[in-house]
Amino acid sequence: MNEMHPLKLIIWLNLVILLTQIDGRKACYEEEKKGLLELKSYLKLQVVNDSEHALLPSWVDEPNNDCCGWERVTCNSTTGRVVVLSLSNMPEYDFLNTSFQCFDGAGSSSYLNISLFQSFKELKALNLSYNCIKQIEKQGLLRLHQLETLYLSFNRLTSPDIVGFLGSLPSLKSLDLSFNGMRGSLSNHDLIAFGRLEVLDLSHNQLEGGIPQNIGKLSSLKALYLAYNQFNSSLPIPGLCELRRLQVGPFTPNSIRSQKFLQFIDISNNYFEGSFSLSSIFNHSKLEVVVLESREGKLQIDNNDGAGIPLFQLKALRLSQCNMKNSLRFLLNQHRLIRVDLSHNKLSGAFPSWLLENNTDLRFLNLRNNSFSGKLDLAQQYPRSSMGHLDVSYNHIEGHLPKDLGLILPKLHCLNLSHNSIEGELPSSVGAMKKLLLLDLSFNNLSGEVPKELVKNCTELHGLMLNNNNFHGPFFSNHFNLSNIRVLKLGSNEFTGSLITKKEFYGPIKILDVSSNNMDGMIPNEIAGEVILLQNNSFEGQIPCGGFFGADVIDISHNFLSGPIPSCLSPESLSSVSLLNLRDNRLSGNIPAQIGLLHGLRILLLGNNCFNGSIPGQLCQLRNISIMDLSNNSFTGSIPSCLSNVAFGTYSHDFFVPSTFSYWFSQEEFIPYFEDFRQDIYDASSFWNGVQFSYFSQGTNLYVHKVDFVTKNSLLTYKGDILNYMSGLDLSCNNLTGDMPQSLGKLTSLYALNVSHNHLTGPIPVSFSNLSQIESMDCSYNNLCGKVPPELVHLNFLAVFSVAHNNLSGRVPDKGQFATFDISSYKGNPFLSGLPSEKNRSRVVETPLPTEETEEKWYEVDGTSFFASFVVTYCVVLLSFGAVLYINPYWRRRWSHFIEKCILCSLQVSYQFP
Ligand SMILES: *[C@@H]1O[C@H](CO)[C@@H](O)[C@H](O)[C@H]1NC(C)=O
Ligand SMILES: *[C@@H]1O[C@H](CO)[C@@H](O)[C@H](O)[C@H]1NC(C)=O
Ligand SMILES: *[C@@H]1O[C@H](CO)[C@@H](O)[C@H](O)[C@H]1NC(C)=O
Ligand SMILES: *[C@@H]1O[C@H](CO)[C@@H](O)[C@H](O)[C@H]1NC(C)=O
Ligand SMILES: *[C@@H]1O[C@H](CO)[C@@H](O)[C@H](O)[C@H]1NC(C)=O
Ligand SMILES: *[C@@H]1O[C@H](CO)[C@@H](O)[C@H](O)[C@H]1NC(C)=O
Ligand SMILES: *[C@@H]1O[C@H](CO)[C@@H](O)[C@H](O)[C@H]1NC(C)=O
Repeated sequence: MNEMHPLKLIIWLNLVILLTQIDGRKACYEEEKKGLLELKSYLKLQVVNDSEHALLPSWVDEPNNDCCGWERVTCNSTTGRVVVLSLSNMPEYDFLNTSFQCFDGAGSSSYLNISLFQSFKELKALNLSYNCIKQIEKQGLLRLHQLETLYLSFNRLTSPDIVGFLGSLPSLKSLDLSFNGMRGSLSNHDLIAFGRLEVLDLSHNQLEGGIPQNIGKLSSLKALYLAYNQFNSSLPIPGLCELRRLQVGPFTPNSIRSQKFLQFIDISNNYFEGSFSLSSIFNHSKLEVVVLESREGKLQIDNNDGAGIPLFQLKALRLSQCNMKNSLRFLLNQHRLIRVDLSHNKLSGAFPSWLLENNTDLRFLNLRNNSFSGKLDLAQQYPRSSMGHLDVSYNHIEGHLPKDLGLILPKLHCLNLSHNSIEGELPSSVGAMKKLLLLDLSFNNLSGEVPKELVKNCTELHGLMLNNNNFHGPFFSNHFNLSNIRVLKLGSNEFTGSLITKKEFYGPIKILDVSSNNMDGMIPNEIAGEVILLQNNSFEGQIPCGGFFGADVIDISHNFLSGPIPSCLSPESLSSVSLLNLRDNRLSGNIPAQIGLLHGLRILLLGNNCFNGSIPGQLCQLRNISIMDLSNNSFTGSIPSCLSNVAFGTYSHDFFVPSTFSYWFSQEEFIPYFEDFRQDIYDASSFWNGVQFSYFSQGTNLYVHKVDFVTKNSLLTYKGDILNYMSGLDLSCNNLTGDMPQSLGKLTSLYALNVSHNHLTGPIPVSFSNLSQIESMDCSYNNLCGKVPPELVHLNFLAVFSVAHNNLSGRVPDKGQFATFDISSYKGNPFLSGLPSEKNRSRVVETPLPTEETEEKWYEVDGTSFFASFVVTYCVVLLSFGAVLYINPYWRRRWSHFIEKCILCSLQVSYQFP
């Protein structure tokens, strides 16, 4: 439900249970009933939308209506006094909506008149969270002299003054001011009056500066939550470490072994820097939960603890991104650990299987992104049935997986061993892990066939990532029984066989990636998914009519598909496609006019097929397109001048974002699977965060858009964010005739234009001097005449330019970028004069491709977040061939392939129209 921290939750529940247990109920006091009704009428004025039923319907003024039975009210049944008022979320916000927002419209509750509570003389607990309260009347407050628990999270109390002010409540033990947008810094003064406080939550605000030293005076503190602020103290925080001494503290000088110990520290996600020695907290004998994480990796935790042995027995430990590098010695004597997250450090050595062995209740272990090496050695003889989540991804684990993996960890929900060097076969014992939801073994050296036990028994699997290994054999066997899969990634293996045809399988699927395998057969009619990646296989036959419903990305390039784009393919089912890649197949026929209905298209790649007929004007209706490749086909007729209506980069620059897991897996769906975890009192609410931290948010993008496009004579791969900035039109290697349309000069955001190898005639339009962003323009191998317009010297980004093999005449420009082009740009135009000398060439060849540089700037890599570079590895230059096209072996090969295909096309044509 709402974000109540576990310890607070317990306090709250205990209070409520205790107070409701006592029998012999006494009816409520008339005075308090009046107070409640007053409160209701006040609240009615405040809430955003009070339909008659929305607000406190049981609070009605009728005789004999006992207010102790009203909703949100709890009385002490001995005295009949109201002791708990649970008035959170009065304007009925959506609890599960984490992007909680207060409405600022007229009437929104903003002012809390504490005097309204003055009738409740014995009020002990008051929950006012989620109410958008902006101000609290100060005088009234002190009347709540019995109040022990006050929850004010998710309001708009932005001034940190409120902390000191609430501290003056004489009985207060638990105060929650999280999620209030508090700004500014805390002073020592603010914490002066808090001697009795046991739980203080100031997390999720924007508090900055240092943590006041006075924090050390909170001698009764059991739990301190300061996470998600902008505190920037250097660690060790002076006051915080004194809390140890304060176990003997000034207020209870005789109680050396009193109950007043710090049990819970959560100061994660701040901007702490400096170094901090773990041994400085070793003496906190009651410490059970430690959560520390530095946002920018500036924190250095020294876990080289010498001979010291911690006095605590921790239950939960998170030290993420803390630059820890020494051994885990400090955990050797721990045996009550439940959750351990040591991700993103520099820990090395063997996989600490002893952690599992010593801590029989360990449920969650995250060692992601460290330097653990050696085998994944799970030396246990008996099953670790508590273990639910194991993440050792991004380490240097090698060798084979334990044969008994599934028997040792039978209750795993989540196993992530991706990005290691694990080899050998996947043991068939994985079939024993029947609760697996997520199995990520991608980017290893695993080989052999996928055991049938996995696809038969692990029916709960929602995500299976086996991509980038050496698996072979058919994946979809007769045993295949996985019908809950949302994300299936098998790419870059050597899988064979054909795709499954079961409709049940395609129902829930979101990402289906079988790219770069040896799969064959037809594409089934049932195929579905948001992202469908079938490229680089040997699929054949026609594009099916039925499938692809609701797809966003379809890549079936580099296969052996043939026949036309079926006209039965309904535009409705494809209406949300943004990327359609049919390149490098044997597709033929006209482009159907219905293509104009695919309004969502951003990228359309039809190159290297056998399409013929004219380029339909309907393509101009695809206004959002930024990249269009029709090259290497047999299109005839002229270039439609309406192509100038297409965006080619002028539209939004935030379309192609990497897709993460959470997008497809709703919390509600997932939580039931983790029920036993949720009973873990220490992390009821942050468990989900734990999963997210471990799997989703830190760079596990399940799909990053990726497109190859020929720019500057090289086939470049554009990935992720960079696609938002790339725009190009490739019409090369067709049979296009007529003039180049003047109107194309309107494509002012276009980066790459290629019309080479056609039969275009007429002049190069002067309007092309408006293509202000253009970097690459290739008009070679046509019949263009006239001169190279001198206005083109204004194209400041033009890096590659070719008009070779045309009929151009006159003097070539030599200013601006044109001073850098060599003779190969102009070859085969006998009437051109003022050509650059031959010796320019070597200079051009050595010029680094400017796209790479410019592209760097488009996505600033945040040096601190380790995974940023992994997240958006946006421009990988796959094949960079130098600038001279005709001496290049790849291009020769491509060219001969093209010729071959064209022969094939003409054969088909003659077959179809005998
Ligand atoms: C109810 O009130 C009585 C009398 O003040 C007190 O002794 C008792 O502890 C209260 N009960 C609870 C559960 O607080
Ligand atoms: C107010 O709430 C009622 C019932 O919840 C709803 O039908 C109505 O549309 C809401 N009005 C506004 C303005 O949101
Ligand atoms: C949460 O609320 C915001 C604002 O009302 C809305 O835009 C968003 O879609 C909601 N998110 C969910 C998950 O319901
Ligand atoms: C606060 O509430 C009390 C009691 O209902 C009322 O007398 C007083 O005027 C209120 N003060 C403000 C500022 O609304
Ligand atoms: C935990 O494991 C380590 C390494 O095997 C061992 O030295 C230590 O004694 C174990 N602790 C307990 C309490 O078993
Ligand atoms: C798969 O499930 C069947 C039936 O529940 C069971 O008998 C078999 O042992 C399981 N296979 C493995 C490898 O655990
Ligand atoms: C291009 O058109 C010419 C005739 O205009 C034809 O002979 C040739 O085969 C065509 N080439 C292709 C690849 O379609």
